[in-house]
Amino acid sequence: CAEALADCTPDTVAAKLKILLQMSLVIVFAGKKPVIRVGRIAGQYAKPRSSLTETRAGTTLPSYFGDMVNSAPFDAASRTPDPNRLLDAYQHAGLTLNFVRSLIAAGFADIHHPEYWNMGFLGKAGLTADTREQYEKLTRRLLDSVNFMEAVGERNFESFSRVEFFTSHEGLSLWYESAQTRQVPRKEGWWNLTTHLPWIGERTRSLSGAHIEFFRGVRNPVAVKIGPSTTPEDLLALIDTLNPTDEPGRLVLIPRMGIKNIDRALPPLVRAVVEAKRRVLWVADPMHGNARTTAGGVKTRDFNDILTELTRAFDILAQHGAHLGGAHIELTGEDVTECLGGSGGITEDELARNYATNCDPRLNYEQAMELAFALAKKMG
Ligand code: PEP
Ligand code: CO
Repeated sequence: CAEALADCTPDTVAAKLKILLQMSLVIVFAGKKPVIRVGRIAGQYAKPRSSLTETRAGTTLPSYFGDMVNSAPFDAASRTPDPNRLLDAYQHAGLTLNFVRSLIAAGFADIHHPEYWNMGFLGKAGLTADTREQYEKLTRRLLDSVNFMEAVGERNFESFSRVEFFTSHEGLSLWYESAQTRQVPRKEGWWNLTTHLPWIGERTRSLSGAHIEFFRGVRNPVAVKIGPSTTPEDLLALIDTLNPTDEPGRLVLIPRMGIKNIDRALPPLVRAVVEAKRRVLWVADPMHGNARTTAGGVKTRDFNDILTELTRAFDILAQHGAHLGGAHIELTGEDVTECLGGSGGITEDELARNYATNCDPRLNYEQAMELAFALAKKMG
C-alpha cells in the first residue's frame, strides 16, 4: 500500500517480485492468456488520507501522507512535511527499479524448482478438501508444464522466465510527477517518467481538479480509481477527458466498490461504458472498499470480502459483455498478519503478531497465493 523508503532492501523487493511472478504464472496457466505484470512499487510513496490531521490521546498532528511527504511515527518532527523527501523518494524508486530489472535480467523467475513454491497454505485447515485437491492438481499440472518446457530447451525456458515487469503508483504528488514529466526522443507528447502506469486515486478524480488536468496531458497509459459514488455521467466525462480518441490501452478503470456496494454501483457503470462502446481495461480493486476496524481498533480487511468482491466484479463484467482484465491487490511477499482469514484463518487476536504496514492492511504471501488460485479456478 504505502511503500516505505525503508522497504528498499533486497529481501523485501525480491519477496514482492516473487509473489507477483508466481501469482501471474498461476493466472497465465489457468487463463491460457498472456498476463501483464504491474507492481505497485518504485514510487508508491504518497498516500491520500481521508483526514488532514490525526488525533491521539489529545494530541493532533498532520496525518501520515506517505514517505514522500512525512514519516509515520506519531511525533511532531516525523509528521512535519519535508520537501527533501521528494528527492529521497526519487532515489529509492531508482534503486528499487534498478534492482528489479537486474533480478529479472538474471532469470530471477526461476520457477521450475518445486521448493521455490511455498504452498503451505494448501495444508491449512481453512480449505475444503475439494478446493485443496483442485489447487494441488493445478500446481502439479503447472510444475509438469514448466518441467516439460525446461526439457524441451533451456533457451525457451530462459526466455520464458525473463518476463516483462512494469511499475505503477498513485500519481498523487503533482510536484513529484510533473518534475519528471518530459519529452523523450522519437516519441510525441509528454511522458510521465516516474512510472509506467500512474493512476488517479478515488479522492482526486474530480473532473475540474488538478490531477485530471495533469493526467490528460501525458501519454502514458493511465488509470483511475472509481468508488461507489461514481455516476455513469461522471464516468463517461472522465473517459472523454482522459481518452478523447478512444486509444486502445490508454485507460484503465479500477472499480473499488466494496462488497456492500458492488452489486448496486458497478452494473450501471459497466452498462454505460459498453453502450457508449468505449475502450477501457477493467481492473478490479477488491481491497479499498472493504476496510474495517476491529473491536480493538485495528484497521483490517477480510480475505473473504476481498475474494467475494473480485468474484462479483468478474461476474458482473461478464454479464454485461465486458470482461475483468486485471486485479489490483495490496500485498507483500512476507508473512504479515494484516488481513483476516484465508486458509490459515487469521483471527483478530492474531493480527498483532506481525502487523507491519504503515497504512493499509495487505495480503500476506499465503493469502495472495490463495487469491491467485481462487481467481484461476474462476477463470478455468
Ligand atoms: C490506494 O490504492 O492505496 C488508495 C488509497 O486507493 P483509493 O484511491 O481507491 O482509495
Ligand atoms: Co491502499
